[in-house]
Amino acid sequence: MKKYIYGIDFGTTNSALSILDTEANTIVKTFNESSILFFIQQQNSSQIATFVGQPAIEAYLENGMTGRFMKSIKRILPRTSFVDTKVYTKKYTAADLVTLILQYLKDKADAFIGENITEIILGRPVVFDEDPAKDKVAQERLEKAALKAGFTTISFQMEPIAAAFAYERTLAHDETVLVADIGGGTSDFTVMKLGPEKYKNRARKQDIVAQGGIYIGGDSFDSAYMSKALVPYFGKNVLYESSPGKMLEVPGVLFDNITSWEKMNFFNVHKLVRDIERYYIYAAKSEKLMNLRVLVEKNLGYSLFREIEKTKITLSNTDISNFHFAKESIDIAETTTIDEYNEIIGGSIGKIGNYLDGFLAANNIKAAEIDTVFITGGSAQVRALKNLMGEKFGDEKLRSGDYLNSVSQGLAWSYYN
Ligand SMILES: Nc1ncnc2c1ncn2[C@@H]1O[C@H](COP(=O)(O)OP(=O)(O)OP(=O)(O)O)[C@@H](O)[C@H]1O
Ligand SMILES: [Mg+2]
Repeated sequence: MKKYIYGIDFGTTNSALSILDTEANTIVKTFNESSILFFIQQQNSSQIATFVGQPAIEAYLENGMTGRFMKSIKRILPRTSFVDTKVYTKKYTAADLVTLILQYLKDKADAFIGENITEIILGRPVVFDEDPAKDKVAQERLEKAALKAGFTTISFQMEPIAAAFAYERTLAHDETVLVADIGGGTSDFTVMKLGPEKYKNRARKQDIVAQGGIYIGGDSFDSAYMSKALVPYFGKNVLYESSPGKMLEVPGVLFDNITSWEKMNFFNVHKLVRDIERYYIYAAKSEKLMNLRVLVEKNLGYSLFREIEKTKITLSNTDISNFHFAKESIDIAETTTIDEYNEIIGGSIGKIGNYLDGFLAANNIKAAEIDTVFITGGSAQVRALKNLMGEKFGDEKLRSGDYLNSVSQGLAWSYYN
């Protein structure tokens, strides 16, 4: 029997690796890292420097938002139309990109253990894609990435089942549990029967009562903050003179592409800058429209969304947050209370709530039949989300573990299943 095995949760926003010591029957260490890549050609050389995780974010910002910055790589796994992408002179397949992240985590863990560990349990979402053919491609690509990273014995486990296993280790009696995994891009729900004896069984399929999910998560909260609290600072509702003496609001389409960093990264900057310039002249050189121009032209989207995320994280623990973004000529300060924030993200929270109601109804499950709600994923820390779950099931039923690491820990524990 191998002494150490790894559980790896390759997430859209964050990835984690947990090391299980199978002899001591304990998790000895967990590493967590942002699922981000950054490539930059070095000056006076054809060498390409590659960065993973937090160092990638720092290098991107230090290099003035030039180079190639990649986020949400997990989303390309099921995209069969994606074959590869050229980064300077080198082509990377989807598996190649994922390999960089798995390799980074493996190297850290191997260094910690002092051995080359080759056995892993890899997480996968319940659905990568509704289309079974694409879903299969996604898992194959992930497996290929793990092989390339140096793993030789690879098995898969569903992410929410893994999260359930992490919670199951703490149980003294049988329970019907709703696992709510609220990530960056998605919220996934699984109802499962758990118990202190059950984890010894290998086959757990019969314990899974229902599974589902919705494409709304923490990124939706950040988009809502941008489009409700911040767009006025970028010229929303500014008036311009459309014909002599006739004032109109600048069109809303100017702001369509700035409500998420992803969108901002991919549209035609030149066309938008030309449009902004036109309105700027007829809007008495509005400083706010200048902010929009600078945001787009200087590619400040990622830095801005980092500050938006900071405000969200602050409001997970305190009642008031001072948003501040100062870069180039932009200087925005906005104070947001928890009540205001709850109102801003209310639409997204409502959608999650409605989905959950439909999910329970479709599976004939009454809230009263759920003994415990185990909340995990970074966005499960958002207070409006906790309130929602408390209202539906009762605050006394809510449990949580390590929000960012339960899945990787449960994956490692799945070794016994
Ligand atoms: N303390 C916090 N309060 C609120 N939100 C947080 C906090 N910490 C992280 N987040 C948010 O959690 C999200 C990331 O969660 P997580 O790492 O669970 O996602 P993931 O597993 O990578 O994504 P997915 O499950 O969608 O593939 C981000 O939107 C991040 O802003
Ligand atoms: Mg996750």
